[in-house]
Amino acid sequence: MMKFILRSILLLFVSRACLIFVASTALPVDMILQTQSIRDGETIVSSGGNFELGFFSPASNSPKRYLGIWYKEISNGTVVWVANRDSPLFDSSGVVKIVDQRTLVVLNGDDQAVWSSNSSGPGLGNLIAQLLDSGNLVLRQKNDSDPENYLWQSFDYPGDTFLPGMKYGIDLVTGMNRYLTSWKSPNDPSTGEYTNRMDSNGVPQLYMRKDSEIQFRSGPWNGLRFSGMPNLKPNPIYEFQFVFTDQEVYYTYNLTDSSVVSRMVLNTNGELQRFTWISHTQGWNLYLTAQTDNCDRYNLCGPHGICDINNSPACGCLKGFVPKFVQYWAISDWSGGCTRKKPLDCREGEGFLKYSGIKVPDTQNSWYNKTMNLKECSKVCLKNCSCTAYANMDIRNGSSGCVLWFGDLIDIRYYSENGQDVYIRLAASELEAYRSSKGKKRMKLIVIPVMCAGVLALCFIFFILKMRSKQPMKEAITPQNPEEDDTDGSEKTDLELPLFDVGTIMAATNNFSSESKLGQGGFGPVYKGILTDGQEIAVKRLSKRSRQGLGEFKNEVLCISKLQHRNLVKLLGCCIHEAERMLIYEYMPNKSLDFFIFDQRRRATLEWPKRFWIINGIARGLLYLHQDSRLRIIHRDLKASNILLDRDMNPKISDFGMARSFRGDESTEGNTNRVVGTYGYMSPEYAIDGLFSVKSDVFSFGVLVLEIVSGKRNRKFSHPDHKMNLLGHAWRLSMDMKLHELIDESIRESCNEAEMLRSVHVALLCVQQSPDDRPNMSKVVLMLSSDISLPQPKEPGFFNERDLLDMEYSTSKNNISISTNGITVTALEGR
Ligand SMILES: *[C@@H]1O[C@H](CO)[C@@H](O)[C@H](O)[C@H]1NC(C)=O
Ligand SMILES: *[C@@H]1O[C@H](CO)[C@@H](O)[C@H](O)[C@H]1NC(C)=O
Ligand SMILES: *[C@@H]1O[C@H](CO)[C@@H](O)[C@H](O)[C@H]1NC(C)=O
Ligand SMILES: *[C@@H]1O[C@H](CO)[C@@H](O)[C@H](O)[C@H]1NC(C)=O
Ligand SMILES: *[C@@H]1O[C@H](CO)[C@@H](O)[C@H](O)[C@H]1NC(C)=O
Ligand SMILES: *[C@@H]1O[C@H](CO)[C@@H](O)[C@H](O)[C@H]1NC(C)=O
Ligand SMILES: *[C@@H]1O[C@H](CO)[C@@H](O)[C@H](O)[C@H]1NC(C)=O
Repeated sequence: MMKFILRSILLLFVSRACLIFVASTALPVDMILQTQSIRDGETIVSSGGNFELGFFSPASNSPKRYLGIWYKEISNGTVVWVANRDSPLFDSSGVVKIVDQRTLVVLNGDDQAVWSSNSSGPGLGNLIAQLLDSGNLVLRQKNDSDPENYLWQSFDYPGDTFLPGMKYGIDLVTGMNRYLTSWKSPNDPSTGEYTNRMDSNGVPQLYMRKDSEIQFRSGPWNGLRFSGMPNLKPNPIYEFQFVFTDQEVYYTYNLTDSSVVSRMVLNTNGELQRFTWISHTQGWNLYLTAQTDNCDRYNLCGPHGICDINNSPACGCLKGFVPKFVQYWAISDWSGGCTRKKPLDCREGEGFLKYSGIKVPDTQNSWYNKTMNLKECSKVCLKNCSCTAYANMDIRNGSSGCVLWFGDLIDIRYYSENGQDVYIRLAASELEAYRSSKGKKRMKLIVIPVMCAGVLALCFIFFILKMRSKQPMKEAITPQNPEEDDTDGSEKTDLELPLFDVGTIMAATNNFSSESKLGQGGFGPVYKGILTDGQEIAVKRLSKRSRQGLGEFKNEVLCISKLQHRNLVKLLGCCIHEAERMLIYEYMPNKSLDFFIFDQRRRATLEWPKRFWIINGIARGLLYLHQDSRLRIIHRDLKASNILLDRDMNPKISDFGMARSFRGDESTEGNTNRVVGTYGYMSPEYAIDGLFSVKSDVFSFGVLVLEIVSGKRNRKFSHPDHKMNLLGHAWRLSMDMKLHELIDESIRESCNEAEMLRSVHVALLCVQQSPDDRPNMSKVVLMLSSDISLPQPKEPGFFNERDLLDMEYSTSKNNISISTNGITVTALEGR
């Protein structure tokens, strides 16, 4: 009550319109009575103050007015629902009211309805339209004994936002389907081209469509999550639930902690994203994206193909299948998919091969039974000649239920974590082939468990110790906000990685002998070492004179220890001895990329397919840093010498000393008085203004790609015809349609010209002057690995030698020291 009075008083001061409203009716301000209306300029606020309803313009300079609901207390009006999204008003004459004793309408100045709620049934007296604290606008009878008996509710007609408490899915009795439709653009709420909608054919699943074309499939619910969303996990922020009965099928979620705000949005690019509100930074933090990589593109590999993002190319065939059109497959068109080596004939001996770690095939043409077990499931499938696969429906508690597939199996991918088992029908002879190869493996399998037992016991002890040291709640949230206070300099001892003894390191590196020195990095020398068990390591010895303080050291250690990706160099541990600090990495026998691409002789050994592989690997590693690692890291010093190569020439990004970890909510942009990086790779906004963002890494990536393709350094580039650097040269060649001249002569023969031109095109998009024009890494990965059409690049940043000179002048004014020898620059400003 007290709260309400305070709110009313507050409102009296805030808005004159409300003053009239409140004063004249003295009623709660979360509802519109049958006899009332609200005009443009007036609003109602939900009782707890979470949401507000009124007219708004999506952009400050837009004359269009919409009736919408937005967050009241936070984020100054992130709009969550729009009534007349496709029929805006062009002036402030809008009025909302209840008509015909059953319908809520938005009227324009001529009293014509531009929008109406589709309430049906007879007219009722005593109606109200009430804005609930959940963000739901409901139409109900004020004196109804059941306050949840709604004639109509906005939760049944969502726009692009899925709020807690909404039922996302189908009422199977009435046929009503509640789904998301994207906005046309961030400033235009009208119906966009993307929808994400539950489909109840076969086992229900969600399809994300662009117009009518399916882009992404969530996969069916498997009891724990959607089969195609392995990153949907129990978490401290929200609790989700999937309900599937004869009456309805929907997905919903609740916020676990009422102080947390979270929403799910289908954005204008068709990405399904979850955001949480971070109050101390007053920003939305991207928490999860449903689509993560190229393998999430619907049916990328065609029928019976299987996508594995860690392979190149990502598409392959299921066991027992071969590419249907080998010639297309060879040029990266996998849409034809795969065909059986031996066709099925439904004879005796046919059976099933088990595939594990799978996103189950499209269930559009499937059949299910929730109670059958796997054995019954197998039997039923075998009996029906058109049944091609089966799987459990629910994988909880030892699994239950049965799904049968008929016909082609499409949109299958492999996950290294949280995939499922699927049993796929094969002809007798095929099955025999796989069974016998499995039999041979059995011998080894008996030996290994004995060894594993010991390891497991150790792991178990470690696990127990780790569990004990955990502080439940705080710890659980840590992954999203990993570095609460890495600047306060206080000692952090909870590093979860091995501490090496200094004696071990001395022995391994032969007392840091000059023979074992691998090179000089930005922060000190790097040594090769061999541990007593034969393992090769690389030791980065941080120079004592280095400006890298304990804070940075910990930053690097913490960052890298949390990052695990095949394209990132792996940190094995660290060593702290008095003032000396060292990082122990896995050893990379093939040194770094610059060692190859800038060397006359060695670069000939690096043929185009390898280079393309490396480009894609770096892109994936960077994408992981920017987006998938949950930490959101900006590398800030991406360059050829920071790309290490393992035995198989897989690229691994190294040197996170200057990486800055973001909480994600800081919109991954920042300003720093410490400019770190290497000229030639630095984006203009970073080098000149110290402004960095993920887009500065994208710039460096673009430079790197041009260097890989051309075998020339951006910085030391020279050309008889002009004074531009490599970026300028590439840009000019692209203007003159002579890009093929950019290719390193030593690989012209091995070069797949289409692939190479595409890579350069993408690189030119990455090095555009304005950060906003540059694509983000997920786009880059997509552009590299598919043939979506690419936009025309604009002029690159820093393409002139003169730009560089200007910059050196301006930075030296700001007291930033400059290095020209390719070693990282670290400079302090104003200290
Ligand atoms: C916050 O909302 C007020 C009132 O709608 C508006 O005037 C102001 O510009 C908004 N501020 C921001 C940062 O959007
Ligand atoms: C109301 O129903 C009509 C016809 O059934 C439909 O065209 C319209 O889109 C519906 N409006 C809303 C807001 O659902
Ligand atoms: C509520 O009020 C309306 C109009 O006054 C009346 O017709 C209706 O019977 C009432 N319903 C209940 C449950 O009291
Ligand atoms: C959300 O909370 C309500 C009330 O506590 C509860 O009845 C409902 O089951 C919850 N739903 C989910 C998905 O957790
Ligand atoms: C599902 O399977 C069980 C056990 O085989 C059977 O009793 C039940 O009738 C089946 N349900 C449907 C809908 O087919
Ligand atoms: C096989 O299953 C399909 C789909 O449920 C069904 O239409 C067909 O009749 C079945 N065939 C046999 C022989 O049971
Ligand atoms: C799984 O087991 C737990 C505890 O044994 C039980 O509460 C839950 O209902 C079971 N779930 C299913 C789907 O059987």
